[in-house]
Amino acid sequence: MASRTMDDFNLDTYLLRAGALDLSAIDWAAVPRYPLSSEAIRTMRFMQDIESHTIVYLRSLLATRAINEPDVAAFLACWVNEETFHGLALERFLAAAGHPIGSRPKPHGHENPAQWLEARGTAFVSRLWADFCAVHMTWGAINELTTLMGYRRLAALTSHPVLAEMLERIQHDESRHFFFYYRQAEIRLRRPVVARVARVLVDRFWGPVGSGVQPRSELRFMAGYLFSDAEGVAAVRKVDETIRRLPGFATVQLLEAWLDRYVKGGRNGHSRD
Ligand SMILES: [Fe+2]
Ligand SMILES: [Fe+2]
Repeated sequence: MASRTMDDFNLDTYLLRAGALDLSAIDWAAVPRYPLSSEAIRTMRFMQDIESHTIVYLRSLLATRAINEPDVAAFLACWVNEETFHGLALERFLAAAGHPIGSRPKPHGHENPAQWLEARGTAFVSRLWADFCAVHMTWGAINELTTLMGYRRLAALTSHPVLAEMLERIQHDESRHFFFYYRQAEIRLRRPVVARVARVLVDRFWGPVGSGVQPRSELRFMAGYLFSDAEGVAAVRKVDETIRRLPGFATVQLLEAWLDRYVKGGRNGHSRD
């Protein structure tokens, strides 16, 4: 990521190279040969849920103006395909490791009341505000970079060769997703009035990726596992510092502030996610 600049992103190149992760290229039979900690398994279960939740999230996005923007619509079509295969890869890995996901209490495709409200709220704000896409792109940049760092940390905290190879492929996709969203956000936030409204909405409503998908306890567990040590804190700061380079976001408080509040210092506190 560091070797590229934000100007490098080219949508045509992305669309030409986009494609689902090749599940047949992973050596599933070798998965059970290497140990995995219970923390890593619990974290992967949560990551799998977030990835497979993408199709539900897409439903909210399709109710916004995003589909009126040809570049964004073309990207989203490929993006949802790639994210879905990240979910399938994690599901298959967990099954191969002897920890199948099984049935989940909350079926995908059905919104809970909070998600219903969020989806309707997003659609409503989008209708009122023509530049809503700037928030969507900023939000996407934060989430994709957080996800990329999360997978990078998981690979570092485990020493499982098959997992490492699978995560490398996933990180490659997440990195390209991040570049798309970030570049779009950078362009759209150049208008000061757009940047001001976007910043207010992020300050008010942003929560880490995965908020609302599973219980808060799982989100806190995953964040604590991935981001508590020195390398984890450095990864979190990298996310925050990168987003602070967007117009109007120089002082935004994101992941590090959330971790300090809800994982390190406030295990009993209540988050709004
Ligand atoms: Fe993903
Ligand atoms: Fe992604």
